[in-house]
Amino acid sequence: MIVTTKELFAHAYGTYAIGAYNINNLEQAMGLFRGNVESKAPFIIQLSKGARAYTDKRMLEAIIRTAVDVFPDAIFAVHLDHGDEETCMDCIASGFYSSVMIDASAEPFDENIAITRRVVEAAHAKGIVVEAELGKLGGVEEHVAVAEADAKLTDPAQAKEFVERSGCDSLACAIGTSHGAYKFTGSQGLRFDVLEEIQKRLPGFPLVMHGSSSVPQEEVERINAAGGQLKGAKGVDENQFARAAKLGVTKVNIDTDGRLVWCRVHRESFRDDPENFDLRPPGKVFMAEYAKFIAHKNGKLGSAGQLDAIRALLAKK
Ligand code: G3H
Ligand code: 13P
Ligand code: ZN
Repeated sequence: MIVTTKELFAHAYGTYAIGAYNINNLEQAMGLFRGNVESKAPFIIQLSKGARAYTDKRMLEAIIRTAVDVFPDAIFAVHLDHGDEETCMDCIASGFYSSVMIDASAEPFDENIAITRRVVEAAHAKGIVVEAELGKLGGVEEHVAVAEADAKLTDPAQAKEFVERSGCDSLACAIGTSHGAYKFTGSQGLRFDVLEEIQKRLPGFPLVMHGSSSVPQEEVERINAAGGQLKGAKGVDENQFARAAKLGVTKVNIDTDGRLVWCRVHRESFRDDPENFDLRPPGKVFMAEYAKFIAHKNGKLGSAGQLDAIRALLAKK
């Protein structure tokens, strides 16, 4: 069943976070649905602009539509990840997405608000919810001065004004993470001090954490042992998700970790079975491993086991 993130966030707020996972193909979709249904977790399926263009957006959307029938127990939102205004409007017009992200965070404050506001008006008219972003995600080298590093983070004092003026339904905040497999060069980590200040100014408002892959070291070591060259890859400590959830983070974005599972499975498969040229054996292993990974993540996020409670809540509506 496809729902909006608003319904999921209302249940999760302050207690647990919903996993938001990116997909690009059928195998990722199968692993994702299996892992969430097996761990009884509500979830968010994210399509980026790049994912929509990888084949044809309709192919990916058709996979998700079919998954509604194949996995009747699944409860999830379909979300556009990091949309520009044009892509947001396309997704809103399609009627398929229950949620879109407008990412105008590179624009000056007032322009970010103006763009977000236009998307919000179009989305709300169709019952679709909107995530917006304030602050700049990006890797910060350890030697960078604190003031310089802080300038990229979401300014708590601006967050309230941004939400009020833009009308967005959730806010992606920059609190020290970055996208990809190389998030920290040293002892940097999540800036809970900044998150706490944002929550103080926006109590009860759903916050989103991008760049939340944990880049498991075991995964990196296995990739490198099978011919990969990922040096110094480092992610977010997954044991900190629970603390972030208490501070208002209701959505945690994870993409890179799924790519690492894909990379490990295929590198090991080609190394261990050099005579094989059939795509299905590694594909099957990947789907099973990705499902296992998702179930594990949901355990860390606290979303595992919440499906029945969400279903009961939705039935009352
Ligand atoms: O935040 C970006 C996501 O990881 C999506 O990545 O644009 O390469 O699909 P992508
Ligand atoms: P990761 O690169 O940490 O997986 O972040 C994904 C993300 O934020 C998608 O929007
Ligand atoms: Zn992101």
